[in-house]
Amino acid sequence: MTPIFAEPAFWEERYRAGQTPWEFPGVPPALTRFLARHPAQAGDTVLVPGCGSGQELVAFAAAGYAVTAVDFSPTAVARARARVPAGVAVRILCADFFTCALPEAGFSLVYERTFVCALDPARWAAVTRRIATLLQPGGRWVGLFYEGPKEDRPPFGWERGEAERLLGARLVPEATLPVPAAESPALFAGREGWREWRRPAGS
Ligand SMILES: C[S@@+](CC[C@H](N)C(=O)[O-])C[C@H]1O[C@@H](n2cnc3c(N)ncnc32)[C@H](O)[C@@H]1O
Repeated sequence: MTPIFAEPAFWEERYRAGQTPWEFPGVPPALTRFLARHPAQAGDTVLVPGCGSGQELVAFAAAGYAVTAVDFSPTAVARARARVPAGVAVRILCADFFTCALPEAGFSLVYERTFVCALDPARWAAVTRRIATLLQPGGRWVGLFYEGPKEDRPPFGWERGEAERLLGARLVPEATLPVPAAESPALFAGREGWREWRRPAGS
């Protein structure tokens, strides 16, 4: 049976009701630090799956990335679009990440924050496979990963070594950095980690 949180209506209801305890009010400091370390090179592109209200999209554009974001909640997408000033090139699709058309090997970066942990763990093999396919060889999957427990509803945490088991050789770990509790909303405080994986060049 499809869990209710796999349906757009589950998320749409929460955005409309203003019940979004996962949201960080602004650009997460860990992302600001990453962008300072890795300013975009010419032609760099980023994909933000499950972008929600899109707190980070303008920061990626300001750092020089061509930005594509996807979310299947119309209210979240409307909020994300409203944050983008006229003339800033950010493409936001209202679509299901698993089925929408995106270019294979089309992105230098895929950014994660509370998208994977919102999915049924039974879909993690599929989501990580799709992300690896969308990355260019040499591209990176980076972001804030929830490292808490796995209960019967989202958020679902990575267990120790789980990401590596899922990713196999498709993506290789590059960095793991701590995220101070003060840099997360209460729901995730002390349980988010900054992780970076790379799709090997030539893969
Ligand atoms: C916990 S929220 C995180 C939103 C945002 N990344 C943030 O940090 O605020 C999970 C988001 O994933 C979206 N989502 C879940 N499954 C999805 C799917 N299959 N396709 C597109 N979006 C999806 C939901 O609509 C929701 O906005």
